[in-house]
Amino acid sequence: MADLFEGKWVLITGASSGLGEQFARQLAQRKANLIVTARSGDKLHALAAELRAAHAIATEVIALDLGEPGGAARLCHEVELLGHPVEHLISNAGFGTGGAFLDSDGARQGDMVRLNCEALTVLSHHFLRAMVTRGSGGVVHVASTASYQPAPYMSTYAATKAYVLSFSSGIGEELRGTGVHVMALCPGPVPTGFQQAAGVQIAGGQKRAILSAEVTVRRGIAAYQRNQAVYVPGAVNRLGTYAAKLAPRGMIVRMVGKMMKAKEPIA
Ligand SMILES: NC(=O)c1ccc[n+]([C@@H]2O[C@H](COP(=O)([O-])OP(=O)(O)OC[C@H]3O[C@@H](n4cnc5c(N)ncnc54)[C@H](OP(=O)(O)O)[C@@H]3O)[C@@H](O)[C@H]2O)c1
Repeated sequence: MADLFEGKWVLITGASSGLGEQFARQLAQRKANLIVTARSGDKLHALAAELRAAHAIATEVIALDLGEPGGAARLCHEVELLGHPVEHLISNAGFGTGGAFLDSDGARQGDMVRLNCEALTVLSHHFLRAMVTRGSGGVVHVASTASYQPAPYMSTYAATKAYVLSFSSGIGEELRGTGVHVMALCPGPVPTGFQQAAGVQIAGGQKRAILSAEVTVRRGIAAYQRNQAVYVPGAVNRLGTYAAKLAPRGMIVRMVGKMMKAKEPIA
């Protein structure tokens, strides 16, 4: 039986580093053709050339800022110009910021909402239509364990990821029976460029929950293939999400607030 990804076009946002780069590497091994996008064109071209040579696949690079107004619509347009049917979308690009909301740059908080929520929504709307017409394919939305509870000192970030999980579950149910699958991948702490961009380190209490990008993506792809609607990689992370569902919200918020306040900023 042919592999789910073999010979299919997969669009990966945020493919220049971290989890997105891992998706590109692991799907290339499975002979998917890749459209990789992020702002860092040089990194994307180097990655695409490496994967093309190593796995005899086709690749396309689209370097653009998905967080600027109209960025997602531009990406949809540029993908359509290429003329490849996108069978799977890995909607992964995103960032967070650490620290008190009122001490933060307000414009950057807005940029985060636009990238993490608006762009992901616009891309899903565009590419899911064609998938439903074909009756196959699907979307992985990269959410977070932060989707499960508010996170003081990363308040906007956790709120964007709560949106991603809710949105993903909602449209996944709407598309039941269409042959198109939607999954929210909810990683816990993964050492990537995320921490540097957010200006925070992984807190002491979170260290037991760390998984590598390679493991997170490998397990995420397996869960997508099993048609899971939501997947939290790692037993410690899963335990945390169960606790967040069961415990009183006020208690969880205070606990997370204490943990986040104590986080070491990256100098
Ligand atoms: N690492 C973690 O602990 C963790 C945990 C849970 C969830 N996540 C989620 O995982 C996803 C991937 O993050 P990561 O951990 O792999 O971090 P990362 O290494 O910083 O990767 C983020 C990716 O998003 C791209 N990106 C950022 N801003 C962009 C913009 N305005 N336009 C287009 N692309 C943009 C970056 O590329 P350019 O800079 O080249 O644009 C990069 O490829 C994010 O949605 C994040 O919220 C991460």
